[in-house]
Amino acid sequence: MRHKVIVPAALSALLAFAVPASFRWGGLELGSAQAQSTQPEAGGKISARGKPMIEDGRYIFRYDTFGDEQLWTDVLRMHEVIATVPPATALAVGLKVDADALPPTIVAALQGGQVDLKNPAVTVELLRLNAVVGVRGTVSNTGQLTSVGITCALCHSSVDDSLAPGIGKRLDGWANTDLDVGAIVALSPALDVVTKAEFNAWGPGKYDPRHHAFDGTNFIALNTPLLPIVIPPIYGLKGVGFETFSGDGPISYWNSYVGVGQMGGRGNFTDPRIGLTITQTPDLVTSKLPALLSYQLSLQTPEPPAGSFDREAAKRGKRLFSGEARCVGCHQLPNYTDVLGGRTVPFLHDPAEVGTDPAYAARTATGRYRTTPLRGLWQHPPYFHDGSAADLLAVVDHYDDLFKLGLTAAQKSDLIEFLKTI
Ligand code: HEC
Ligand code: HEC
Repeated sequence: MRHKVIVPAALSALLAFAVPASFRWGGLELGSAQAQSTQPEAGGKISARGKPMIEDGRYIFRYDTFGDEQLWTDVLRMHEVIATVPPATALAVGLKVDADALPPTIVAALQGGQVDLKNPAVTVELLRLNAVVGVRGTVSNTGQLTSVGITCALCHSSVDDSLAPGIGKRLDGWANTDLDVGAIVALSPALDVVTKAEFNAWGPGKYDPRHHAFDGTNFIALNTPLLPIVIPPIYGLKGVGFETFSGDGPISYWNSYVGVGQMGGRGNFTDPRIGLTITQTPDLVTSKLPALLSYQLSLQTPEPPAGSFDREAAKRGKRLFSGEARCVGCHQLPNYTDVLGGRTVPFLHDPAEVGTDPAYAARTATGRYRTTPLRGLWQHPPYFHDGSAADLLAVVDHYDDLFKLGLTAAQKSDLIEFLKTI
């Protein structure tokens, strides 16, 4: 961990352990933070499946589809189209390949430029090897792709490009800023032309988790029009306590929301605040939430690459962050957020208070925004929930205008150097 922690981690950990499946998330019955701080951390525990929690959670995060083939195969028929997609195209829409899953012969062939990245049969072979990050495929003995499903790693993992661009060692927790989910979904033969065009307009690194939900059979309309938001990183969340841009609930609340309603996994989810209840048997999601949580809490913020910032300027920027630029009023240490601060309900901000688009918040359970816990900023532009700030200068300019800070060009540049270190 880069920062020393604290009560809230145990709090969100405990929440997932203690709550029954029927837990009313909206009620957020957290109890007192103090009582929870006496609970052991998730890390050392053995999961229901008999493996150490974190290891089990890593497996679930990377490989478990929760039975979401019911959406990606049965409804969207993605297996039909993926079997025709050349690997070069798959890489171009941001899919990543796990080099550790490749046998040495293929690694050597890739290094020697002998793999035909235009041949769709290679895509199917990569799926057979379980080498496509966040996508699980079943391939028959005759080489037919018979089903596909997705995992959490699709959106929240990248690779280190060590073998080739898009091919390398897994980097779990990193936002996949290249992933064009809209373009991928738009390939589905089950969608009409208008819907395809809408999905195609999203662009990389974005997804709209509030447009619809899938209940195992049907799509439930939630909000229109589509409003894709930035896929965030999920490292460095230990100690944060309330997740999502709008602080809707702890990690396991959101994992359940996404795993069931968005990924299309088979399971139960209910939240009266947003009027959504999904019930499916058997439930392949709920029992996995504790292990999944402990893995997420173990994901640490990556250090900025050597030489990626100016040390002296960053020191000056740090003083500005707490001083003249007034950032620390909301982005409080140790996690650069004020969402919890010992509270049992999230502390949030009206969109107008931070000069940000209210439309997304209006679709959430809280209607307001959480001060984003700043972490790995160098890794995941663009910024703000809607990606409205293309780079860190745009972030600083946004606050300089909004709060009439009157920062000089040199001060802005120092502040940016500091933000690159967070
Ligand atoms: C299709 C892409 C996609 C998939 C798959 C996906 N997520 Fe996410 N995830 C998102 C988006 C977009 C958000 C931002 C939602 C928000 O904050 O309102 C998000 C938010 C989160 C957050 C909150 C981060 C924060 O800063 O508060 C966590 C934790 C998370 N996801 C974990 C998971 C886990 C675990 C899974 C698998 C069960 C998963 N996600 C699957 C796209 C995805
Ligand atoms: C009044 C509270 C408040 C103050 C003051 C504030 N922020 Fe924020 N910050 C927020 C909120 C709320 C968000 C989420 C907004 C959104 O996503 O639309 C945010 C988001 C951000 C993000 C985007 C993070 C990401 O991962 O997308 C950055 C970077 C940031 N703030 C930096 C700063 C800096 C630098 C300052 C000082 C100049 C500052 N903030 C001052 C509340 C505040």
